[in-house]
Amino acid sequence: MSFPIVRPRRLRRTEALRRLVRETHLSRDDLVLPLFAVEGHGVREAVTSMPGVFRHSVDALVDEGKRVRDLGIPAVILFGIPAEKDARGSGADAGDGIIQRAVAAMKQAEPDLCVMTDVCLCEYTDHGHCGILEGDEVLNDPSLERLAASAVSHARAGADVVAPSDMMDGRVGAIRAALDGASFEHIPILSYAAKYASAYYGPFRDAAESTPATGDRRGYQMDPANAREALREMQLDLEEGADALMVKPALPYLDVLATARAEFDVPLAAYHVSGEYAMIHAAAERGWIDGDRAMDEALVSIRRAGADFILTYAAKEVAARLAP
Ligand code: PBG
Ligand code: ZN
Repeated sequence: MSFPIVRPRRLRRTEALRRLVRETHLSRDDLVLPLFAVEGHGVREAVTSMPGVFRHSVDALVDEGKRVRDLGIPAVILFGIPAEKDARGSGADAGDGIIQRAVAAMKQAEPDLCVMTDVCLCEYTDHGHCGILEGDEVLNDPSLERLAASAVSHARAGADVVAPSDMMDGRVGAIRAALDGASFEHIPILSYAAKYASAYYGPFRDAAESTPATGDRRGYQMDPANAREALREMQLDLEEGADALMVKPALPYLDVLATARAEFDVPLAAYHVSGEYAMIHAAAERGWIDGDRAMDEALVSIRRAGADFILTYAAKEVAARLAP
């Protein structure tokens, strides 16, 4: 049967009908808000390239945690920006480091909020690479020890989930072993499994002061041209003990997300990254697009492609729009 008997438009006539046949829903339950922790007191510093995003001192993060909870957002992911950086990224696993203090303060104020941490060295190293640097080479195996120590220190501070984003080989296994060895066998690993060497991280690197001083990240992050390799990365991370997998960025890699959805039964996350967020706000500011609608469309598309949850800087604005 076909037209004129079949008319798909019949089910699009009213909003009530459209609601009934809608296949994908975006809910507050699907959102994770990224937050940046900086030193100081009473700091709430705007990130210029990301309207609505701020760098907060620990005390200000606690207030932010309350707003996040009131909006019904279940989780945040924290990034620490230390005052001092060095070659080995000592701040990454310091017991009293910025991220460790931020986690502890947020968990104390909001015990029910899920606090995830980004595990990486780039915010803490003076060269800005995600691992230990020798000449212009980012060393894999010596970096694992540092990453594992960071993850354990985050768990010790009270993190509910650790999320390694460095793209070193074997980091999930190393982190799992270190967590288990420190009696954190109950802490899940959300692996940034398919993380691409993307141009869309620009605004984040301004916010996190993590632009590499020399070279780029193409020796460890994935080539944007590769999809099969992403599945292999995900498979390896599952074998090493990852509890959930992430694809990053989101919109340019919806194909990877959709294939991963068909292939794996673990929870899948997508990171709607800084550049994706900034583009929508920039165009909306110029009056070129309806920013709210473009944001909702981006996020529902990421869900449609197969993501269970989304890390997005738009979590608060979207949660405020969604009815409870
Ligand atoms: C650190 C990290 C980055 C992002 C998340 N964790 C930056 C990078 O790899 O350069 C990017 C997030 C964003 O752009 O919103 N490894
Ligand atoms: Zn990094």
